[in-house]
Amino acid sequence: MIMDMRTPRANSDTRPYYVATGDEEKIFKAAFRQGLSILLKGPTGCGKTRFVEAMAHDLGRPLITVSCHDDLTTADLVGRYLLNGNQTQWVDGPLTRAVREGAICYLDEIVEARQDTTVVLHPLADHRRQLPLERLGVTLEAAPGFCLVVSYNPGYQSVLKDLKDSTRQRMVALEFGFPSPQVEEGIVATEAGIAPAQAEKLVRLGQAIRRLENGGLREVASTRVLIAAGRLVAEGLTLTQAARAAVAGPLSDDARVSDGLNKMIDVYLGG
Ligand SMILES: Nc1ncnc2c1ncn2[C@@H]1O[C@H](COP(=O)(O)OP(=O)(O)OP(=O)(O)O)[C@@H](O)[C@H]1O
Ligand SMILES: [Mg+2]
Repeated sequence: MIMDMRTPRANSDTRPYYVATGDEEKIFKAAFRQGLSILLKGPTGCGKTRFVEAMAHDLGRPLITVSCHDDLTTADLVGRYLLNGNQTQWVDGPLTRAVREGAICYLDEIVEARQDTTVVLHPLADHRRQLPLERLGVTLEAAPGFCLVVSYNPGYQSVLKDLKDSTRQRMVALEFGFPSPQVEEGIVATEAGIAPAQAEKLVRLGQAIRRLENGGLREVASTRVLIAAGRLVAEGLTLTQAARAAVAGPLSDDARVSDGLNKMIDVYLGG
């Protein structure tokens, strides 16, 4: 099944909370105005999704998000004939709807999709801005405001799963990392609703975990896990309890690694 989440046109409601960490907003908006496609690269939980939500809001475009996976077919993206009573009826997929409506179409974790699925993006992602619907025998021109945004996590990259060069070179790339400690403290305090001093401690722990080399971790502590720990603190748990459950637990199943993380938690948050 396809996950297709729609965020309604949002120019009237409040802006999704996103704190810029560099010139990413400026570049995104410039690329949008020029009809260029955008590639967001970065580790899990660093703010890519939140960033796209904020940009859709600022630009006054609907946002249509598709989570990619390896069963995703071209038909899942563009649409298919479905049986309706004793007739068949064409139903647009999320990509086709975005093309017709001039929405921002966000394909999350695009490398998870097979390459024969993503070739349909090529004429859309370059200057042609066209989507051929072979089953209908028509080619759609993308409505003004349509923008293709894809994301992937280079940390999970493998030989089998990499983005084709012909796809990558149709995009403007924005590289995401974790924010500076000061910025991240503000984000954690705001999102979790905790005191700045508590957020500062969690961020210091996060920074220390990120500095570990060969720590046996596939991924380091993200802003997301620090916020989750902060939420537990907001519920009355101690910093240590919260970080064990929300930071150390999710990061590793390996007993030795978890042990090391728990020791760091005691050093940074104990007492
Ligand atoms: N710059 C930022 N401004 C505001 N909130 C942020 C920022 N960066 C991260 N966050 C917070 O971190 C959480 C995780 O971010 P988000 O879901 O956007 O990550 P992601 O990069 O899309 O991760 P994934 O690759 O796993 O989908 C957000 O819900 C938000 O609370
Ligand atoms: Mg995301």
